[in-house]
Formats: sequence, C-alpha cells, structure tokens
Amino acid sequence: MPKKGLRVLSGIQPSGSLHLGNYFGMMLRMIKYQEKFDLYCFIANYHALTATPSKESLEENTLNAVLDFLALGMDPEKSTFWLQSDVPQVTELTWILASMVGTGMMDRATSYKDKIAQGIKPNIGLYSYPILMASDILCFDTQLVPVGKDQKQHLEITRDIANRFNNKYSNVLIIPEYEIEEGKQLIPGIDGRKMSKSYGNTIPIFSNEKEIRKKIMSIITDNTPVEHPKNKETALFKIFSLFLDKKGLVNLHYRYDNPGLRYGDLKVELFELVMDYFEPYRKKREYFKNNPKKVKDILKLGAKKASNIANQVLDKVRSSIGFIP
Ligand code: TRP
Repeated sequence: MPKKGLRVLSGIQPSGSLHLGNYFGMMLRMIKYQEKFDLYCFIANYHALTATPSKESLEENTLNAVLDFLALGMDPEKSTFWLQSDVPQVTELTWILASMVGTGMMDRATSYKDKIAQGIKPNIGLYSYPILMASDILCFDTQLVPVGKDQKQHLEITRDIANRFNNKYSNVLIIPEYEIEEGKQLIPGIDGRKMSKSYGNTIPIFSNEKEIRKKIMSIITDNTPVEHPKNKETALFKIFSLFLDKKGLVNLHYRYDNPGLRYGDLKVELFELVMDYFEPYRKKREYFKNNPKKVKDILKLGAKKASNIANQVLDKVRSSIGFIP
C-alpha cells in the first residue's frame, strides 16, 4: 500500500488519443508525483458521458486512456489507478452534495458557459459536472489536486461545497488545496494555438509513424529567410524545447539566433526525436494491449483500494446528514 505524504488526486477524461499537450501538461506531472505522494488517479468516464458518446466510442476511449497511462508509467504498485465508474459511491455523494449547491453557482461555471458558447446544447450532466468533480475529490479525503488553469474554478467550487457541507452538518469533508503550475508555458499545437483536441491541432503520441510525421511537418512556421535569425516565440521552437535538456536547449537557441537554420530540417529532427522518445512507451503499450487480463486486474485492484476509502467517507457523510445507519 502506498503511504507517502500527501494524498494527491487527479482525473482525466477519456477523450480521443493522447497528445503531447496532455503528456507534458499533466501526465508527466502525475507520473512523477507517484514517487513522492500518495497518488490517486482515475479515468473520468462518468464525466465523459456529458458529451453523450456512443457505447463503442466510450469503451474505446476509456481503454485507450488506460493503456496510455500504464504505458507512460502509471505504476499500480506505487499509486491507486481506477475507472471512475468502478467506484459508484461518488455518484451517491454527488447527489448528496447537489442539494448544497445553488443553481446560480452552476450557471457561473465557465466550462459550462464555454460549451454553450460553442453551440452545445447542455444536458443536466454537463450542468452539474462541477458537482460530480467535487464529489470525485471529496469522496477520497483528497488533500491536493494538481490541475490545469482551466480547472481552477472547479476547485474553488469544490472547496465552497465542502465548506457548506461542513458548516451545515459536521466537519467530515477535507477541504482540498489545489496546485496550478505557474509560469509553465502553454504547449502550442501545430497551428500555434493551445494544443487541444477541440482545435484539431494536436500531435498524437501513439498513432502511426505516418500520421505523426504528417502532423509534425505541418507545424506552422513563418517565411524568415534561411540566413536570418528566427523567432523563438513559435510553435516549432516551443514543441522542440519540450524534448531537450539544458545543453540541447542552448544549442537550439544558438541555431535560432544564427543563420542557416531550415525549418524543414528541424521538423524532420523533431519527428525523429518524438519517435525515439516514445519508443519504449510504445512497446510497453503493446504489452498491455496484448494482456487485457492484466489490465483488468490492475483496474480492479485500484477500484478496490479507492472503494475502501470512499466507503469510509460515505459512512461519515451518511450518518452526519441523518440517514439512519
Ligand atoms: N474536469 C477535469 C478535466 O476536464 C477532469 C476531472 C474530473 C478531474 N474529475 C476530476 C480532475 C477530479 C481533477 C480532480 O480535466
């Protein structure tokens, strides 16, 4: 059983193939954290339902997310890793918490407002998404949640809901802290905007060589002549930098500052770098893909560990609100 330091929890929605932005933005951080924290990590498939996927696509995306995490280093010996839907206690807590939340708070949730602005017709699942997320966190006595900037409001809502609950009933929910990596550069996609599946500008990690090459070769560049210094505030420079150590970075700066750099050459180098970097992970992913029983066992073990904690929290919650034990 992992028993180190803070209990840290995070979830990721299973939505399409994993890309460099996911990896350098959040997964790498989680994988490092399992070394020093008591890490809880789950695939948020209840959350994914809010986009009403087909059975096939939810299954496929969920399995892919699991394989990606395991391949990239999520270690079930060091952390607790499970499918959200295998611990349905969170849905009970969601319902209990829902009555503590005014509709105004949900109306103000930016993720919901953004979806509406994109023309998506909201369902109640989407509307109450932040309550499910609060429950994910509070159900496991979480102390710290590492998230991206876009999730900050959800964490504020979580803390607010927990405080309301504790004030009305008794002090049973732990108020979680959150951690947003400040100063971290936004990872640009091939068109220069934030790398995101919804912009269709991602570089996938585990798709085939041809597709990865095509994406990398189409990273947007400018038409600075070869003999001029180049602009470093650009997608190609930033993406390339992700793979470099200090020495490599100094060299890249030098090449950008001096004449002779051809973007086309750099893209080919980047392609090779990406393929090499992920090669061992690719092998590991194949291994798990060919051993579905092993993957199932890992998830079941994770669900069992997570469930034990959820049961303890729910026992306290249930008796504090007046459900007769
Ligand atoms: N909403 C998060 C996202 O879209 C995913 C998520 C669901 C989550 N439940 C969570 C993250 C609990 C942290 C903690 O990225």
